[in-house]
Amino acid sequence: MRRKPPIPRIIAVAGGKGGVGKSTVAANLAVALGRLGHRVTLIDADLGAANLHTMLGVLNPTTGLGDFLDRRVDTLDALKTPVIVPTLSLVSGSSRPGAANLGKADKLRLLGAIAHLDADCVVLDVGAGSSFTVVDFVAAADHKLVVLTPQLPSLHNAYALLKACVHRVVRRLALDDIEQRLIDAALGHDTRARTIAQLLDVLRPLDPVLAGRIADTLARFGVAIVANQLESAGDAGALARMSPLIHDHLALHAPLVAAIRRSAALAGGLRAGTSNLASGDDTAAAFRKLAQTLLRTDLAELRGA
Ligand SMILES: Nc1ncnc2c1ncn2[C@@H]1O[C@H](COP(=O)(O)OP(=O)(O)O)[C@@H](O)[C@H]1O
Ligand SMILES: [Mg+2]
Repeated sequence: MRRKPPIPRIIAVAGGKGGVGKSTVAANLAVALGRLGHRVTLIDADLGAANLHTMLGVLNPTTGLGDFLDRRVDTLDALKTPVIVPTLSLVSGSSRPGAANLGKADKLRLLGAIAHLDADCVVLDVGAGSSFTVVDFVAAADHKLVVLTPQLPSLHNAYALLKACVHRVVRRLALDDIEQRLIDAALGHDTRARTIAQLLDVLRPLDPVLAGRIADTLARFGVAIVANQLESAGDAGALARMSPLIHDHLALHAPLVAAIRRSAALAGGLRAGTSNLASGDDTAAAFRKLAQTLLRTDLAELRGA
């Protein structure tokens, strides 16, 4: 009997806000993982504004996620284009109108296809916002990377995205109608339970098993912060303060795993010789270190197996 191939390590790159550097981080992280010898598939799941192909030097992609969503192909492996290093391939995005919010069936089919990819690692650029589509992609990933910049809106949007993910996942942990009602009541507007810590305090006396299941799931949620476009040491310090805040409000462990400075190499100017890929400088080293940090995390532990 053939053994079922393992589900690849799935890394979502999110952030809530546009322009913070999600695509830049996704592309450079995927290249770094590929350079470390891992078979990587980078997916442009930014259904509203796909642009990873440009960053990786593919000017006019001939295939993309639209082919999968329109059922011209059945697997994502059929849409891979090799880029940059032999171990890395790209599944380009879809710019078809109306694709930004997928229906439930399309979303499940796409998530299933991602889990079946023939790869060691999948890097997902999920795009901006906190739509159900973005939230579900992030919730399904082993690693949930949140890209932050020192600008306040990036912090607000990232927090809103994480909160939406936590609420979505927590609601799904109910095993029956009674638990569903307990959770809905504790999360809803008609109670004083504002933070997840408070939600757990409300639930614990009512249903300690359910409260334990929620706490356990959130303890291994796989969130990590990538600080981007840093201009001073103070910037990194300010962003490091997000971790305790996220822990206090959402009961999530969200360490700062990378600090990437603003660099001309990542700026993607039109001048010849510039692109969005780091090479040979400290930003390249930062992406390699990020890749190694993620690879060191035990997948079975993250998945609660
Ligand atoms: N660390 C960085 N240094 C310099 N420019 C950056 C950096 N990160 C991102 N950029 C630039 O910022 C712009 C937005 O980045 P992008 O990755 O497209 O953001 P997002 O995907 O979050 O919308 C791009 O022009 C990109 O080249
Ligand atoms: Mg982008």
